[in-house]
Amino acid sequence: MYTSDANKALISIKKIWDVIGIHQRSIALLLLVFMLVAAALEMLGIALIIPTVLTMMGREFSEGFSFLQKIFVYLKVDSPEEKSIIIISSLASVFLAKNIFLAFASWFQLHYVFNVYFKVSKKILLNYLNQQYPFFLTHNSSELIRNILIETNQFIFFVLMQGLLIIAEVIVVVGLVAIMFTVEPTGTAVLSLTGIMAILCFYKISAKYLQKIGNARQEADALRLRALQESFGAIKEIKLHNHEKNSAESFAKLNNVWLNATRQNQFLNNLPRLGIEVAAVFCLLILITTMLLSGAKADEFLPTVALFGAMAFRLMPSFTRIITGLQSLDYALPVLNIVHSELLTIPPKFAHSDEPILFNKEIIFENVSFHYSGAGHPALKNFSTTIRKNDFVGITGASGSGKTTIVDLLIGLLKPISGEIKSDGVNIHKNLKTWSKQIGYVPQSVYLINDTLKNNIAFGVSDNEIDTKKLLKAVKSAQLGAYVKTLPLGLETIVGERGINFSGGQVQRIGIARALYREPKILILDEATSALDKNTSESFLQALQVLRGKCTIIFITHRLNGLKGFDKIINLEEGNEVREKES
Ligand SMILES: Nc1ncnc2c1ncn2[C@@H]1O[C@H](COP(=O)(O)OP(=O)(O)OP(=O)(O)O)[C@@H](O)[C@H]1O
Ligand SMILES: [Mg+2]
Repeated sequence: MYTSDANKALISIKKIWDVIGIHQRSIALLLLVFMLVAAALEMLGIALIIPTVLTMMGREFSEGFSFLQKIFVYLKVDSPEEKSIIIISSLASVFLAKNIFLAFASWFQLHYVFNVYFKVSKKILLNYLNQQYPFFLTHNSSELIRNILIETNQFIFFVLMQGLLIIAEVIVVVGLVAIMFTVEPTGTAVLSLTGIMAILCFYKISAKYLQKIGNARQEADALRLRALQESFGAIKEIKLHNHEKNSAESFAKLNNVWLNATRQNQFLNNLPRLGIEVAAVFCLLILITTMLLSGAKADEFLPTVALFGAMAFRLMPSFTRIITGLQSLDYALPVLNIVHSELLTIPPKFAHSDEPILFNKEIIFENVSFHYSGAGHPALKNFSTTIRKNDFVGITGASGSGKTTIVDLLIGLLKPISGEIKSDGVNIHKNLKTWSKQIGYVPQSVYLINDTLKNNIAFGVSDNEIDTKKLLKAVKSAQLGAYVKTLPLGLETIVGERGINFSGGQVQRIGIARALYREPKILILDEATSALDKNTSESFLQALQVLRGKCTIIFITHRLNGLKGFDKIINLEEGNEVREKES
């Protein structure tokens, strides 16, 4: 049983070691050295208590402290008053030095720990962002947000800080117990064994339970976040149907699970301190009684009792911290597992050639099939078509017939499960980076960031690199010019969260301007005019005509009627049968 516990502990230590990463490990070792210095100062402080008490009582030092006698002889100090002053002031200096050092060590430790937090959360986000697109179809954003923000935070406070604390305290305890052992071997041995047994018992009893509530906390955190995201995301429907109370209730329910787990953990964390206090008082009383019963005189054992008293004063918090530290590690075991796996599961990297993917002639879909994981039937089956350079291509078909899937395959977000998509004869997945550089894409639902109109259009371009000429051209082509002129702040207007300060049609046009700003070779518009009125839609289609001959346009729409001028129309009927019409 204990070997499997030891194994688990070793695995956890290895995981912590992995998470803190190569750059941080040397600093972790430096921190360990700091702890050793602090422990040495701590022991020196405590060890000076016996000579202090003896000096105060005007008595000679016992064997263990003969070195002090030698120092006094060397310093030519022999009056008891002088000795007392020297001993007492050394005790004060050691405590002062120790605490100044501890303050510095604590500053350094916090600096280190938060640096780990900074790096770990950034790395996890980057790992997620580097995942292939299908990853985001199967993972809930609230879970990902929880892992980046909450789990990393919990890792820092419950795993890393507590781990360091346990090491520091174990060093102090071992040192102090060693000193006690030289003074009173039997008493110390009995006390240490009792202490260790008590820690192991308490730890064993609470470990499983703590892991269980740790798991509950972790699940509740993701669900709490999801409930909040959904409440604000569906705010219109909630207000319309008076669901405010229901939404708050479902959040409160999940919050309660979180709350219970956290409360129970806090309570279990408080128990060791109380237990240890009682145990310490009992032990000290037993020690005094045994000494009294053995016929020793009070002034003979007073220094030992003083030492043990001081030890208890110092050891009690140490024992408490070791137990609560171990408890925290159990509570945070699910945290460690998540942070470790999310940090070290590096997203798959696909080998790609250095040859850029060119598009001078045609794009060919060759028997392309795609099946979403978990879907009952394929979204696309044996789809073949050819798109010539600078063609104006319309894709139409019923809702759910696979139009958006074709686009996601074309831009490389999804990979066909069979068949190939080639540009000038080369599979686009051979070098997606150079392929996607040529594409401008207006998705079916445009996502605006809570920033200025300018930064939404020149999305991802840093402020000083925004080309104003290109920006104005994109605004004009997207039929936004007249509207922007009416805005007091013009292109500096803030669009609000998900573009809440703009109308649906305006958001769509901002999306179009965003795609046009990149001056793409291939422009893909997925229902890009669905929210526009007839006039705006027509002016936009006219504006698109300006691009004809300069750019390949793929236009997806339900409403093909009345739209003219396509070079090719792909009609996705049931079962993805393709009917192509050259017009
Ligand atoms: N992430 C997904 N997981 C499972 N099935 C999906 C997923 N996305 C789409 N599908 C399914 O794939 C099929 C094609 O979807 P797609 O979005 O390509 O249709 P669409 O033609 O663009 O429809 P619409 O006109 O409504 O936008 C649908 O049956 C849809 O339910
Ligand atoms: Mg669609």
